[in-house]
This record gives sequence, C-alpha cells and structure tokens, in this order.
Amino acid sequence: MQADGAQLLHALSAQPGGPELLKLGEGRADLMLVGGAVRDLLLGRSPRELDVVVAEDAHELAGELAVSLDAQAQITAHERFGTAVLDWEGGRVDVAQRRAESYATPGALPQVRPGDVHEDLARRDFTVNAIALGLGGAQLGHVLCVEHALADLEARRLRVLHERSFQDDPTRLLRLARYRARLQFAPEPYTAELASRAIAAGALGTVTPARVGAELRLALEEADAISALEALRELGLLQALQPGLSFDAELARRALELLPADGRPDLLLLACALTPLADGAPRQAEETIYELLDRLEFTAGDRERVLRSTLAAGALAARLRKTHQPSQLHELLHPHTVEAVALAGAIGHAAGAAGEWLERLRHARLEIDGNDLLAAGVPSGPEVGARLAAALSLKLDGKLADGRQAELRAALEAAP
Ligand code: CTP
Repeated sequence: MQADGAQLLHALSAQPGGPELLKLGEGRADLMLVGGAVRDLLLGRSPRELDVVVAEDAHELAGELAVSLDAQAQITAHERFGTAVLDWEGGRVDVAQRRAESYATPGALPQVRPGDVHEDLARRDFTVNAIALGLGGAQLGHVLCVEHALADLEARRLRVLHERSFQDDPTRLLRLARYRARLQFAPEPYTAELASRAIAAGALGTVTPARVGAELRLALEEADAISALEALRELGLLQALQPGLSFDAELARRALELLPADGRPDLLLLACALTPLADGAPRQAEETIYELLDRLEFTAGDRERVLRSTLAAGALAARLRKTHQPSQLHELLHPHTVEAVALAGAIGHAAGAAGEWLERLRHARLEIDGNDLLAAGVPSGPEVGARLAAALSLKLDGKLADGRQAELRAALEAAP
C-alpha cells in the first residue's frame, strides 16, 4: 500500500478537530497523527478519535487545541504517561508525549521515558497501529512507519512488532480479538502462534483483572460485538478468563434480535457467554459468576443485572415454551430483566412469547391506580396491589372493556 501524505492530510481535515490540529501543527514538526487514527484514514474509515503525539508537554497542546476548538471541552491528563485526552461534543483527541516503554515484569504497566518518534512507534501493539503522519513543519504530510506496516494494512494482517509483545502486555491478546472482529484482519501465522503460546502460558493471569475487564468491556461495546466475542472464544481467551466460559454466536444473535431498545446489548452478550456457567448447582454458579464479574470490576449495577439475567434465563426458557396466555406470561416474566427474557426466548426457541411480552405486554398499564381503590373503600395494604394485579391480568387477556369504569369494577369484584 502506498501512503499518500497529501491525501491523508485532506482526509484528516474532514475529521472533527482535524483542521484545528493542522493549524496548530504549522511550524512544529513534532506534531504527528499516530495509531488507530492513521490506520483508519488509510483504510477510508472514520477514526473514533484522533491520536497525536508531541515531543513534550501533551497537556499544553491539549489546552491550545481546546481554545482553538472554541467549544466546551474537557481535558483529562495522565501524568505518569504524559498524556491528555480532550473531549468535546464533536469528538475526542488523545494527545501523548512521544515515549519509549520498557516492561520491568510481564503484564505490569510499562516504565516510560521520553523518546523519539521511532521509539514511540516501536512501543506499539500491531504494525498497522504503528504508522505516523507528520502534521507540521518539515514533516508535514510525511508518513513514517515500522517495517511491514503498510503491506500488513493492505493484506489486512495483524502482526506484533516483536516476539515478547503479548507477554509484555497481555491485554494485547484481547485487542487482537477486537481488531479481528472490527477490521476483519487476520493475525499472521507467527503472531497467531505467539498469541496461543502466551495464552497457554497463562499470560492473562499476569495483568490486573481490572485491565482485562476494561478490554472485555471494549469488546462488548464493539459495533459487531458478536464477532468480537467469537474471536475471544476462538483464541481461547474466554476459557483462559474463566474455565467454562464460552460463546454461542447463533444463540447470541437470536437473543439480540429480541432485545428491545431499552435493553443493554453488552450485558446480554456477556450473559450469553456466562450461560454455560449457570448450568451447575445454582449456589455454586452464582458464586462463580459473581466473583468473576467482581474481579473484572464491572460496576455493581451491571454485575447484578448480568448475574440475575444469567441465572434466570435457563429456567425461564423451559417455562416460556409452555406459557401462552398473556396474563401468565406477565406473571412469569415481569420480575425479570429484559436481558433475561431475551436470553430465555433464545435458549428456549420461544421468540414469539418472549417478543410478545417484551414488545407489548410489559408496557400494558391500568388507567386506575391504588388511590382509586382507596377512594372506593378498599383498606390500604396488600389487598390494593392484589386487586390491581387481578384487573391487569383480565385486561392483558382481553377480558376487560376499555376505560376506567370497567377496570374499577373488575378490581373491586376480584377475590381479595
Ligand atoms: N497500544 C498498545 N498496547 C496497548 C494499548 C494501546 O500498543 N495495550 C497502542 C496502539 O498502538 C494503539 C495506541 O496505543 O494504536 C492507542 O491505543 P487506543 O487508543 O486504545 O487505540 P487506537 O489506536 O485509538 O485504536 P482504536 O481505538 O481504533 O482501537
């Protein structure tokens, strides 16, 4: 692949923040676009963010960029790595001081020192991410890259820069799966072998679970998260994360199709992967799943939602197949998360019943409420809720005429 610098600069100027970066680059040869941003522009894709490096003081450049963007921007600085992230409503720019990295122990965060652009490229994960485009001064429009980078991009290949790459930073194993899914790039054979060896040697165990969790969350948020999880499974990473973890892409597809817009696709897919763990003794399954999600630092809210969904889905699936009456469906499903119902519908091949509840029945409401019953003389307490539930059941089954009067009568006539 030929990298045409002028064409890349033109593509950059169409990105949010691109023209402002080019303006700031005037007269400074150290400002360069790097990483995924150059890769994506060369592929004709829109980068999710713009990554740039400077010789020093990333924070200052982020500040100047914020002023030139003339927008409400937020800067988050990371002193240890000399990086600053600029977020504004139009986009995001990552600014980093050029650096060289070394790893004191496998899996630890790297030790960093200022470096030149070649060292900065050499510290990266895959060749296709190790390309730089000069944004100013004598470097304007110049493309620098590590060996093989452009050929690998053309051949859609993922290649590590050296043989210790996955040992140094095992989160790159999960990145490999993400790039495979997102870019549909394949690891070249030696990289695939190095990945298998690192996984077999327990590389994942040398990284903090929080970092593994962060990468897993990125995989779950990919536009094609099903492919990302499939890639994680094929590489043996799910099994390495937790024995028994697996992923059935077909099941996941069926479940996602049922998930309504207010559901969480990422949590549903995670529940799909955890499903095999829910097969064992319920107490044991709950403990294993809880511990895994806790270790990977999912938020308490997400952890509970995934746990509840995963543990409920199997039993719900069996009952869903035998439940057809709307009021019974409602009774069965209303205590559960929408993810649990979608997963149960997929497991039990009961898309009709699950979809009916998710799309229609769960939104059904009475026009009356507890105050109407109290006003009609029902004593306050559980009886109010029970009478409302009875009226709702009749309404769901189509046994109630429309309107408040019919609902009130049904609630008052229900057996207390
Ligand atoms: N990087 C790395 N090893 C990691 C994480 C990141 O070498 N464990 C390098 C890669 O070269 C990557 C760059 O740091 O290109 C920036 O990382 P990140 O922002 O996560 O990726 P992007 O380049 O922005 O690519 P994308 O977000 O599109 O995946």
